[in-house]
Amino acid sequence: MTKRTDMTRTSAGYFVSQETSIATDNPIVTPQASPPDILRCAYMELVVTDLAASREFYVDVLGLYVTEEDENTLYLRSTEEFIHHNLVLRKGEVAAVAAFSYRVRSPEELDKAVAFYTELGCDVRRNPDGFVKGVGDSVRVVDPLGFPYEFFYQSDHVERLQWRYDLHVPGELVRLDHFNQVTPDVPRAVKYMQDLGFRVTEDIQDEEGTVYAAWMRRKSTVHDTAMTGGDGPRMHHVCFATHEKHNILAICDKLGALRRSDSIERGPGRHGVSNAFYLYLRDPDGHRVEVYTQDYYTGDPDNPVITWDVHDNQRRDWWGNPVVPSWYSDASLVLDLDGNPQPVQARTDDSEMAVTIGADGFSYTRADENEGKLGNQL
Ligand SMILES: [Fe+2]
Repeated sequence: MTKRTDMTRTSAGYFVSQETSIATDNPIVTPQASPPDILRCAYMELVVTDLAASREFYVDVLGLYVTEEDENTLYLRSTEEFIHHNLVLRKGEVAAVAAFSYRVRSPEELDKAVAFYTELGCDVRRNPDGFVKGVGDSVRVVDPLGFPYEFFYQSDHVERLQWRYDLHVPGELVRLDHFNQVTPDVPRAVKYMQDLGFRVTEDIQDEEGTVYAAWMRRKSTVHDTAMTGGDGPRMHHVCFATHEKHNILAICDKLGALRRSDSIERGPGRHGVSNAFYLYLRDPDGHRVEVYTQDYYTGDPDNPVITWDVHDNQRRDWWGNPVVPSWYSDASLVLDLDGNPQPVQARTDDSEMAVTIGADGFSYTRADENEGKLGNQL
């Protein structure tokens, strides 16, 4: 159980502690095998129902670069990427996520991935030729939380396009930044991800210790993936980074000019969690895409862990703007390794939307003045 008294409240309203305060009473057993050494989130494979509509959204509107394409599949990358792709769009019947893919430090790490997940009793498959073009020897698993995870090292190298200013657009997407996953039991998920080598950077909790979300990293930023409490396993969003805030505003302006403002679900705004400037979009299948910039360095071993109070109305939006209900409720299905949608299990802990929106909720801007105020929709 989390003890607020063990945390230090900062002048900005969030709490810091030296180690994560998240603990589970329902753990997935820690394997004896060492986890693979993960470098970073590398790409997502998305199943889309109308490849032409998706191509228009991701290439013509958002400006991702086409590395390779055929009649059923698009391989896209961001400006600074040198591996083959950051996003695979594959035509299929059911819009869903086929893989959350991570790059590991060396080819040998794939043997560790096989041993780690085999010990966990997961469905584990290895393809020396890769499951998609441009990527070699790969391991795919359905992890203990029900998500299709992939690990690879070998990838074709392609040209980094950051010097090709002649190709850039005002809303240039420069890097893949992170995934965000919906899972019912966040502390259970955090424990498993820690066993996989991830560290918590930020979380949202209430005073009783209920955990609503947690952000976890391998690379030295706020996260490679986040676990959001809700019915799952589902994919909440995939996120690309821009260099600066004005790039995100340019995407909004472009969508307005194209009369496609209905693609904008939430934002633009400034997050409390991560401090990043953000925008949430929905693609033609409803898959959520975040555009994000200017989070912070987290690479030191004693990087402080940040905890936000679920009733702090600046946690999700630093300016106190409301979170739209669809952002809490909607998410994409994920697939098993045979391409079938994974069954979704309901969250039994309190939902963040229920405790912060409507007459049952309360929130505060200044904890000392407004704690307990009813009825703020945030
Ligand atoms: Fe995000």
